[in-house]
Amino acid sequence: MAVQELKPNVYAVGARDWDRRLFDALIPLPDGTSYNAYLVSGSQKTALIDTVDPVKAAELFANLDLLKVKHIDYIVSHHAEQDHSGSIPQVLARYPGAKVVTNEKCRGFLMDHLLVPEDKFQVVSDRETLSLGNKTLEFIFTPWVHWPETMITLLREDHILFTCDFFGSHLATSDLFVKDTHRVLADAKRYFAEIMMPFRPTIKKNLEKIADLGYEMIAPSHGPVYDQPAVIVEAYKNWISDQVENEVILAYVSMHGSTEKMAAFLADQLIEKGITVKPFNLIQSDIGELAMALVDAATIIIGTPTVLTGPHPAAIYAATLVNALRPRTRYATVIGSYGWGGQAVETLQKMLGNLKVEFLEPVLAKGHPREADFKALERLAGDIAVKHQSLNKQ
Ligand code: FEO
Repeated sequence: MAVQELKPNVYAVGARDWDRRLFDALIPLPDGTSYNAYLVSGSQKTALIDTVDPVKAAELFANLDLLKVKHIDYIVSHHAEQDHSGSIPQVLARYPGAKVVTNEKCRGFLMDHLLVPEDKFQVVSDRETLSLGNKTLEFIFTPWVHWPETMITLLREDHILFTCDFFGSHLATSDLFVKDTHRVLADAKRYFAEIMMPFRPTIKKNLEKIADLGYEMIAPSHGPVYDQPAVIVEAYKNWISDQVENEVILAYVSMHGSTEKMAAFLADQLIEKGITVKPFNLIQSDIGELAMALVDAATIIIGTPTVLTGPHPAAIYAATLVNALRPRTRYATVIGSYGWGGQAVETLQKMLGNLKVEFLEPVLAKGHPREADFKALERLAGDIAVKHQSLNKQ
């Protein structure tokens, strides 16, 4: 347990989860994570901003005990996902006078997921304020960062924006504020790629909505607090823009080495043409790294052998992920080897239906790649180089 002070009477009371290595049974967490909750103590009322994952509820309560908190008036719930809301029932049991302050949609989710009784809520509307005496909370609805109910809170007098998942990073660190900007931005980019990237258009609207709030600090519910918020806001503006880099993702799986030889040859060809190549052997790659690469790359190539007439399941998994994350990628294609036929290319192409990409000519080898196949790969590298020359010129 540890309590850290952001500003007078504003405390970080959440928990670090140093050892967690997987989120949502899906997302790798190489640097752990934190579930940030904040206590805002006004002259008349006290508010708890979000809670923690239920596995860390004891740490939240130990922190509140350190501050000798006897009464909580409001539990502000920004988002119903349980890493932030899951301890609300326990907080209500400990502080029975508290009301859960949230929006209509989030109330419904909390009633469904956590069985919080309806009479425990105080529903607020967009831009509504709540006085704690000498401190004022203003609630700003920011839907789809990353659920439909997500909202954030401005603590007006202290100019702190509590943003929950928005601007977060999966990073467990003892630093309250960002110290190692490079490291935090890398984790924030990974977080953006895995959680926020599908919602780039709504993020753009939400960035515009918060532009004039006059905040001086961004306090998310994962990772350290930004006392220089421009760092993360500018990074987000870049990540949601339409700018792509001269980079190719080569996500491949190989059973007997043919697809791997093709991927290696293509990588060399692309490198010779001055293109950055990011290869991912799908059997051993961290999908978070793949997601991060998708933030920037202009082109994605999936390499797969044909298995039982279709793509290898590892390629299907990658295609599903890429399609769901909706990156700004411009070009895509498939390479690989087959034994006697199949629909690997058509299947993968259909699976990438969410992407606004131009599909380039695929290269498939029958069995071991031969000279004609390598020539085709050389042509593909040349086509990609030409396409990339016109990137970001529109
Ligand atoms: Fe950190 Fe969407 O929960």
